[in-house]
Amino acid sequence: MAQGSFISDIKELRARARKHIENGAVTEGYKVDRELALKLLNEALATEIVCVLRYKRHYYAATGIHSEGVKAEFLEHATEEQLHADQIAERITQLGGEPNLNPEGMLTRSHSEYVEGETLVEMIKENLVAERIAIESYSEMIRFFGEGDPTSRRLMEEILAKEEEHANDLRDLLQRMDAH
Ligand SMILES: [Fe+2]
Ligand SMILES: [Fe+2]
Repeated sequence: MAQGSFISDIKELRARARKHIENGAVTEGYKVDRELALKLLNEALATEIVCVLRYKRHYYAATGIHSEGVKAEFLEHATEEQLHADQIAERITQLGGEPNLNPEGMLTRSHSEYVEGETLVEMIKENLVAERIAIESYSEMIRFFGEGDPTSRRLMEEILAKEEEHANDLRDLLQRMDAH
């Protein structure tokens, strides 16, 4: 790095940018293992899809006197998980990878599980468990991306904040159910 300059040598940087333009957004400055990054992002993608399906199932299955507010929450979460899935798929293509949306193996790639649950309380609990799994695994991904892939890190940080909100919503719902 040139003395007094924060950015590495500009001439060198320009020359490097011209090489391998077929790699699009992935430059030589990309500092994490790209294959591993794509594998992790595909696991996050599967996690989101499984969450969409579980929330949708619960949205349609929820019945009973307290179900209206809970249903609305499930539907809102399903919509937000779908948005996360789209954002992650987009990032995978930016990194030159292929979003894996093959239903076969989806549950294996996903970190969260698909549990239907019988009662409203069971459904809320299963969703809370799934959110807590996502929170832990996304936190690890964020540490992996670190300074080497700040864009993926930022994306996963945004998503993580949303999952924390979801977990909090579900805990509130559980407490309200207990109060009845
Ligand atoms: Fe999500
Ligand atoms: Fe979530």
